[in-house]
Amino acid sequence: MVNKKLIIANWKMHPDSESEAVLLAKRTEKAASKSKNEVVIAPPFPFIKSIKSHVSRVKLGAQDVSLELQDAHTGEVSAEMLKDAGVEYVIIGHSDCRALGETDEMINKKIQATLKAGLKPILCVGEHTRETRDKRQGIRKAKDFVREQLKNDLKGVSILINKKSPRRSASSPRKSALLIAYEPIWAISTNKNAQPDKPEDSLEMIKFIKNFLLVTCHLSHAAVLYGGSVTSKNAKSFLQYKEIDGALVGGASLNANEFGKIIQST
Ligand code: PGA
Repeated sequence: MVNKKLIIANWKMHPDSESEAVLLAKRTEKAASKSKNEVVIAPPFPFIKSIKSHVSRVKLGAQDVSLELQDAHTGEVSAEMLKDAGVEYVIIGHSDCRALGETDEMINKKIQATLKAGLKPILCVGEHTRETRDKRQGIRKAKDFVREQLKNDLKGVSILINKKSPRRSASSPRKSALLIAYEPIWAISTNKNAQPDKPEDSLEMIKFIKNFLLVTCHLSHAAVLYGGSVTSKNAKSFLQYKEIDGALVGGASLNANEFGKIIQST
């Protein structure tokens, strides 16, 4: 079985114009076509439709979604609208959004809305400080933190998934109905002194997440990715492990050469 990885570009609030976005998407498409790995771009909302008409190998993601399904909600974008625009994946619970006040309850509703529309949520989880992750202080603290996030964010979600797709093949991360991105907040490049996690530590956490999903949520087919300062220099050190199903890439996805190397690193 080919161990395909899922590499997701989280462009955040970049670039500034549609023409730059389309150019970057075209270059990403070219790099993706030379790789067996699956590639997703999550651009800002206004660029989704125009990018969609220029890519086929690359799939589209959104960076957020409304927790409301429909009706009068100023400034909101529903899961159905995203689906109509050609989106397949939705990043939910990113630490940037949690920092602005997004709660576990809101995240849970967003996941449910996303699944109801037939889209795949990418739930971001991860602890705040390097100290809680330090083995000397006990990796337990970090695991407790992530377990709590998973428990609250995924309330009622497994029933929804298992009803819709009871026996999915796990042969490819793209076939997973739910994805988790383990992103320790201190490792995300916009944070001061950010450094990528140690691959072996991420591996331990990702195994822990998979075990939680299996034992508590009865989900055997959820893909789990690593995110936080992934670059072409370190991508392979994470993706070499069969348990790490892919990467969520921020800063490095804005440079097509650099992102191309990440896509082609395994
Ligand atoms: P980074 O961002 O790769 O720039 O660290 C990852 C993310 O925030 O999703």
